[in-house]
Amino acid sequence: MRPSELAPSVRTLAVALAAFVLPALSVSAQAIRTGAVAERYTQLCASCHGPELQGGSAPSMLDDVWVAGGDDESIARSIRNGFPEKGMPAWSAALPEKDIRAMVIFMREKRAQAQREKTQFVKPAESVTVQSELHNYRLDTWVGGLTEPFSLAFLPGNRALVTEKRGRLYLIENGKRNETPIKGVPEVDIDGQAGLFDVVPHPDFARNGWIYFAYSDPQMHEGKPVSLTRIIRGKLREGALVDQETIFQGPLQYYRPDGGVHYGGRIAFDKAGFLFFTIGERGDGRNSQDLARPTGKVHRVFDDGRIPDDNPFAKQSGVDRTIWSYGHRNPQGLAFHPVTGQLFNAEHGPRGGDELNLVQPGRNYGWPVITYGMNYDGSAMTDLTAKDGMEQPLTYWVPSLAVCGINFYTGDLFPKWKNHLFLASLAAEELRRIEIQDGKVVKQETLFKSLGRIRYVTGGPDGAIYVLLPNRVARLAPAP
Ligand code: HEC
Repeated sequence: MRPSELAPSVRTLAVALAAFVLPALSVSAQAIRTGAVAERYTQLCASCHGPELQGGSAPSMLDDVWVAGGDDESIARSIRNGFPEKGMPAWSAALPEKDIRAMVIFMREKRAQAQREKTQFVKPAESVTVQSELHNYRLDTWVGGLTEPFSLAFLPGNRALVTEKRGRLYLIENGKRNETPIKGVPEVDIDGQAGLFDVVPHPDFARNGWIYFAYSDPQMHEGKPVSLTRIIRGKLREGALVDQETIFQGPLQYYRPDGGVHYGGRIAFDKAGFLFFTIGERGDGRNSQDLARPTGKVHRVFDDGRIPDDNPFAKQSGVDRTIWSYGHRNPQGLAFHPVTGQLFNAEHGPRGGDELNLVQPGRNYGWPVITYGMNYDGSAMTDLTAKDGMEQPLTYWVPSLAVCGINFYTGDLFPKWKNHLFLASLAAEELRRIEIQDGKVVKQETLFKSLGRIRYVTGGPDGAIYVLLPNRVARLAPAP
């Protein structure tokens, strides 16, 4: 036998030994972190359940047949206790609870992958009729020539504004994008996930002309470049953004190194005219639980930035009094239900664990204490998915879709979609339609997939649905 043939088996033996022996000897954090979940599956489970979970001497974990229940908790129990009389070892001694949780997430990922390979998702070509469950539609490019558009806002008089992540703002008139970007937009940090984010007109825009923006604001702090999501408003005049005012800016000490991750950056007005906006936790979950910091929060202010007296933490000292809810990770979707007025947010979880939340004042949404996800490298994060005093999501996605913008449909062109929630996703490249009844998600449909990362979806004044793809705005209209 040549050494090259020998090596893998020696290596396999070494990792197998490490996996069995280390956790048994000491359940130190170090030992738990070694080996991603896929490796652990290969070492411990693949011999019986098959390398791709397809089954072998033990059942497949890709089908819908479960001997002891197919919900997350039942699967965790099967792994924990095993079925010793049938040859399935109990893993509770070898695997800490959070590793068992990571294994459940891994099994969900594999199952979703297997289903994806079996399912034909629609990838609409231009002007081709697509059948979906409730409506047939056609997708066409409305405005092309864009680079990573982040948000779209319709204005009266057949006009619209579109932001690009790289810091440009364009006016669209009668379906045509102006060649030159609007001048006077503030300087924006565009490294990493930073950028120019939301654009939202004041509910009374026709009278007052205010337009609101969220962007990552570059500053210097202690000699280093830092940035954080900032909210401003301004007015359009002769191709420029003028009369700018800051609506919210966090204290400089809570800015984080520029570039990096998790800015949030969505804005929404409620019917009473209060302004809500999101700031992500900038890559450190501890920020989400710290009420002194603006990071990892949904905020609420008056349209001019003043802090309402009845904000949940308005009367406490040492806190950020604009906070409306906390324990968020990276909320990039924010929308009010057109009928109930309830506030919903969509936020990126870690690997597994994207969430849709019903956002209520003063509530804690749990990040990073509870989550349905694990670390990106497949190491476990926690087995805690629920805890007293922390809110459960309305629904969560394992595997993650990388959820971005959300909006409820209120137009008339697609009557059966009225008041349904539309959700954009980045990694999964899906446009989802979600039905919510009595505060519960009762139905989800993937309308299409694989046209690229989607940052935003919104209804237009014409009743069509506008979707922000990587280099264009596409328009969904009923098929004739
Ligand atoms: C030595 C063989 C063997 C190994 C190794 C093994 N299993 Fe099993 N497993 C079984 C058998 C056999 C069953 C079916 C028990 C039954 O039919 O009641 C089973 C059942 C299960 C079930 C329940 C399936 C269902 O349909 O409800 C889960 C979940 C599971 N195993 C996960 C794992 C995981 C995760 C690992 C690795 C950490 C693992 N198993 C390792 C043999 C094994």
